[in-house]
Amino acid sequence: MVIGSGGREHALSWKLSQSSKVDTVFTAPGNGGTKNNVSIDVDDLDGLADFAQKNNCFTVVGPEAPLAAGIVDKFKEKNLKIFGPSKDAAQLESSKIWAKNFMKRNNIPTARFEIFDDAQKAQDYVKGLDYDVVVKADGLAAGKGVIVCNGYDDAISAIQTILTEKTFGDAGNRIIIEERIDGIEASYIALSDGNIAIPMASSQDHKRIFDDDKGPNTGGMGAYSPTPIIDKDLAKKIQEKIINKTIESMKKEGITFKGFLYAGIMLKDNEPYVLEYNVRMGDPECQPITMRMDFDLYDYFVASANGELSSMPEISWKDQYSVCVVLASEGYPESYPKNEEIVGFDSIPSNAFVFHAGTKQTDGKILSNGGRVLGVTALGDTLESAISNAYAASEKISWPHKFCRKDIGKKGMAYL
Ligand code: AMP
Ligand code: GLY
Repeated sequence: MVIGSGGREHALSWKLSQSSKVDTVFTAPGNGGTKNNVSIDVDDLDGLADFAQKNNCFTVVGPEAPLAAGIVDKFKEKNLKIFGPSKDAAQLESSKIWAKNFMKRNNIPTARFEIFDDAQKAQDYVKGLDYDVVVKADGLAAGKGVIVCNGYDDAISAIQTILTEKTFGDAGNRIIIEERIDGIEASYIALSDGNIAIPMASSQDHKRIFDDDKGPNTGGMGAYSPTPIIDKDLAKKIQEKIINKTIESMKKEGITFKGFLYAGIMLKDNEPYVLEYNVRMGDPECQPITMRMDFDLYDYFVASANGELSSMPEISWKDQYSVCVVLASEGYPESYPKNEEIVGFDSIPSNAFVFHAGTKQTDGKILSNGGRVLGVTALGDTLESAISNAYAASEKISWPHKFCRKDIGKKGMAYL
């Protein structure tokens, strides 16, 4: 059973259904593209556990909310098999303050920072700084609790938004004010069993809504893998200084980290800094990454859950690039129309696959049902051909308020 309803979960279900060891993949609650949907909400932990028990499931958790709520701990108490981090381990994502303090005491490279719960003290602090800052709400805010500031006035208004106006509710009871690092972002995701961590393929997301990284942040408008921005030497550095160090330091502090460990990296002068941790696969990074997997993902999920990754054979990847273009509904990340019929699925060429996200099936029709609607993902022998394959396939799909960025992958081209 895969828990979640986004493009990431469709990609995980799709990949797991190819395993000879898996009879059926259920997705809870799933979307218009996933099969065997089970209508149980991601926060109904008891309902999910009951279903897993009755159907003899191995469970894979997609999004962060059930992990932060302790789904893995709950399943383990009931002797149910599950892949993902415990509630304690999920603090790396569920509390940004916990994560920053963890990095500081373990010398994991990250932007310098201070923590505040008092707006006046926070404002006095930024007055004395001679660099730009980023203001972050401590808790989970659906990817929105981070305000990148340009100058003093921006910083003051960000502090007010989070601490005074409580725009993100209790998630903003405390804030981090950290140094803004201007560099290049990439995603580095590894799979851990608590002892070792094996790297997944590198990738790069496109977080802003418009081309050339303009406009507000979104959940991610497209991703590609691998990214030439992370070369072999840099990958080694990130693996050692960040990923391995994180897993070892967690262990030293008595927490076994099992699951996907995702480091959002900022590269400056060829040095990596952790902007954030996620304790799950990225969305949309998961779509191009799974498409390049030349191994049975199920085996590795089981090995992670059992703490046996070191006895697994080395993983291999298709020697191709993969690009995922997110098709969204116009208006996202703010308000957008829903329930529009989507057509064109029958014309998708064989080098591409359409992962569903915000869709639903009604009377045999696929309708839009969210902001990020589809992730059209294609392979290619070069980054350039993967980009053109993904866009050629995207052209086949239409609905009245379809919208996408036109420059997914372009940033990588500059590095080839
Ligand atoms: P986060 O959710 O912490 O990854 O932040 C969301 C986005 O804010 C990141 O993808 C970056 O684009 C930006 N960001 C976060 N922290 C910093 C920082 N210290 N310097 C520059 N940009 C940042
Ligand atoms: N694509 C960014 C994330 O999954 O958080």
